[in-house]
Order: sequence, then structure tokens, then C-alpha cells
Amino acid sequence: STARLHLDPAFTVGPVRRRTFGAFVEHLGRCVYEGIYEPEHPSADADGFRTDVLELTKELGVSSVRYPGGNFVSGYRWEDGIGPREERPVRLDLAWHSSDPNHVGVDEYMAWCEKAGVEPMMAVNLGTRGVQEALDLLEYCNVPGGTYWSDLRRKNGREEPYRITMWCLGNEMDGPWQIGHKTAEEYARLATETARAMRMIDPTIELIVCGSSASDMETFGAWEATVLNEAYEQVDMISAHAYYWEKDGDLASFMASAVNMDHFIDSVTAAADWVRAVKKTDKRIMISFDEWNVWYMDRAESVPPKGDDWPVAPVLLEDHYNVADAVVVGNLLISLLRHTDRVASASLAQLVNVIAPIMTEKSGRAYKQTTFHPFALTSQFARGDVLQVGIDSPTMTTARFGEVPTIDAVATRDPDTGETSVFVVNRALEGETTISIDTRALTEWADTELTGVSASTYAHSDHTWQATADDDATVAVQTNESATREGHTVTVTVPAISW
Ligand code: AHR
Repeated sequence: STARLHLDPAFTVGPVRRRTFGAFVEHLGRCVYEGIYEPEHPSADADGFRTDVLELTKELGVSSVRYPGGNFVSGYRWEDGIGPREERPVRLDLAWHSSDPNHVGVDEYMAWCEKAGVEPMMAVNLGTRGVQEALDLLEYCNVPGGTYWSDLRRKNGREEPYRITMWCLGNEMDGPWQIGHKTAEEYARLATETARAMRMIDPTIELIVCGSSASDMETFGAWEATVLNEAYEQVDMISAHAYYWEKDGDLASFMASAVNMDHFIDSVTAAADWVRAVKKTDKRIMISFDEWNVWYMDRAESVPPKGDDWPVAPVLLEDHYNVADAVVVGNLLISLLRHTDRVASASLAQLVNVIAPIMTEKSGRAYKQTTFHPFALTSQFARGDVLQVGIDSPTMTTARFGEVPTIDAVATRDPDTGETSVFVVNRALEGETTISIDTRALTEWADTELTGVSASTYAHSDHTWQATADDDATVAVQTNESATREGHTVTVTVPAISW
């Protein structure tokens, strides 16, 4: 089959935002312990951080990292994680039925962020706690000194304030599984008053209020409207969370998961703008898509321990991704990028071991999952402005979304260099597609010729191939030799289920 893409720099959606390439580190399973932190590991640095994981984090091109949860944060006492390690308490983590020795806390996380070169995104507990504890944490992190919490930070070894900008007001408070779950009205009041008080300490912070945990939540849409109606003036972003997996062997619907993400973003935008209209204000609320990924929720690895078993860092949510999963991840990034006018921040959930692009063996290797590749390359090549791409594509039938285009794409263009990247997925289950990309408007705009065309493809004849600690390189991103240029048209042939 064939498809056509049309590029035009006049159709700029907005800037490529580095924060689109965020990730997430939660106290969950082996994400923190044996993930970013393993003092006994041969690669560990003086602070106990695995340098192999730090290196892979940099290669992944991660911009920001959300912490410490997730469901975990809704029962977390942040003070447990500061001061001398040997004095820190071991606590029950009710969210994941685990024990947490608190060997990693705020100061370790911030030290790790600095080593990884990523921006922190801190979540406060609005499940079991409230305004005061959020204020204490903010004081500990952002106030220079001369007060109880800021001086404690200095005593703990950090002289300068961290000045963390992004703060999440709780996590998934719409979810009945959340510790301290609230109705929209209850949460709206608490989040608004927490935000208002936090801004009294530091008016420069950016605040993210909880939106919906999924687009199929019963309260979806109404939750956003109720919460924003109350919190509109106090917050900057509203969160969105979405996970996708191949349910009941329905590969076609799974490949089209980005259709749901598009719908999700458009719906939250509509709810936010409805509140804006009612309030007659100019301010726009942006979206923080701060949990998104493929997650096989129905697998045994996703079920926490039970009874008296409260292990430290158990194997939990350790999905092993295949090539099709990677194509879906690439497509979800395309969706996030094309909404760059409203999605101001995003976090792939999560970074290490827990539904993650990076895996580690205890005392052993760190390796890349299939999903690592589209993320790393999109982060590397998305530069400048995001361009809306005109797409003429064949369609496929899906049980979940009806008829959907097989080809999906977004482009970015760096106005300084003229370098243009086109990110494309072929969601078709069979057959290859030859794509013609019409670049006339690009070259006319810049009054130049098209030069230096190249293409890379991630695909495999067996889309169920998975990376392991012993082999994470057999299926790699390959140069696509079919890419050619004739005049203003670039042509490239892409296989089924490919990024
Ligand atoms: O990322 C895993 C979990 O998914 C998070 O803890 C929670 O916020 C979401 O339900």
C-alpha cells in the first residue's frame, strides 16, 4: 500500500518541549532499590547509585523525573527519608504491600537528578496528609535557610536550596485504589488550599493538579471540570495518566492505542477550556501527561504480595516488552508531540525495572528494553518546532476504535538549521507501506534544496521479540536503505508494525 505525508512549516503546533521526555521513579518494586540505587553493585558510585543506569538514563534522553510516586506517595512520610540512614525507619508501603527502608529519600533523589542531568518533578502526599506536610517539604527543598526545615536540609549536607519548580498535588486521587481517595469536590478543596499555601512560600513553583487516572474512569471529564472550577487560578497543569496493552490478543486495537491518547488529550483540553470560558479568564491550563506507557496489568508480575509478606523491593510490574510494544510507545510519543500546544510535560512510567525501558539484574547487568529505542531517538531528533503533518493513509479496522489510519506521523523542524525529522509508525499488522513525503513547502520556505535524507526503522519479522539481559541488541534500529529523494519528494518503504 501507499501513503502520503505533507509537511509545511506554516502548520506549526508549538515548540518541542524538553519536558515531553520525562520519566518516573517510584518507590515501587525494584525501581529505586536495585534500579537507580544499589550500593553493593560493582558499578555503584560513592553515593550508591548504579552508574550503568545513570549512563542509560542519559542515553535515553530523559528530561525530567517524577518522584516518589505514584500510588506510593499517598501514604508517604517524606521526613522518613532524610538524615542519617541508620536512623531512618522501615515503613509499610500499603500501595504495593512492601516494606521501605527509606535508604533513598529527597536528598538522594535530588543528588541522583543532578548526576543524571534531569529536572526533578516532586509529588506531595494528599492521600494521608495535607497542607502542612506539603509546606514542610517545600520549605525543606526551596527555602535558602534560617528556618527549621531549611536548616535541617543544610545540616543534612545540602547548603543551597534545591529550588524544585514542578510539584504534583497528590497522585491519582480520583482512583478508588488510592490511599486517601477523595471525591472530586473533596480533592478540589484540598488541592486548591495546598496550592495557595505552597505559593505563599514560593510563588515561582509550577503546580500540577490531579486529573483522571484513565479515560475510562467513570468520573472522566466531570472530575477535570470540578477540580479546575475550584483550582483554576492556583494551578498550571492538570495531570493525565494512560496505560495500554494488548488485551485478549487484539493486536490491531493495541497498535492503535494512540487514538485513545489523542482523544484523552482533546477531552481534557475541552474540559479545561470550558472552565476557562465560564471563568472569563485568559489563562490556559496545560496538561502534564505524567504517567503513560504500555503496561500488561493482567500479568502476575503486577499483583502485589499478600498477608504477612511485606518484602523490600519485590519483583513487581516487570513487564518484558516486545517490538510491537515499542512501536506503540513510539506512536504515543507522536501523539504527545502533536499536542505540544497543550501538553507541557510528560513522564514515561517508569524509568527502571518497573514497566520500564531500562532493566537491571541485581549485582548484574543493566540493559535496554525494546521501548528504549523509539524514546531515545525521538528525544534526540525532535528539535525546534512541532509541525502538524497532513496524512493520506490506508486504514485498518479495529474492534476498539473502528477504522483508523495505519500510518501516523508528526514532524519537527529546527528553524535555525532547517533540519526536519519525521516520526512515523506503521500500525498495519501485515504488508509494507511506501510513504511519499511532500517537502515542497519546507524548501520553498527556506529557499533551499533538500539535502542529506536518511531514515531509520525499528521493526522485526517477529514482532513478539523481546530483549533480555544477554541480548538487547539483536533487534536494533536499522538504517532504512529504501529512503530516496526525487525533487521535493522523499520516499521510504516501511514494514508492518514498525516505528
Ligand atoms: O506506574 C504505576 C502506577 O500506576 C502508579 O503508582 C499509579 O499512579 C498508577 O496507577
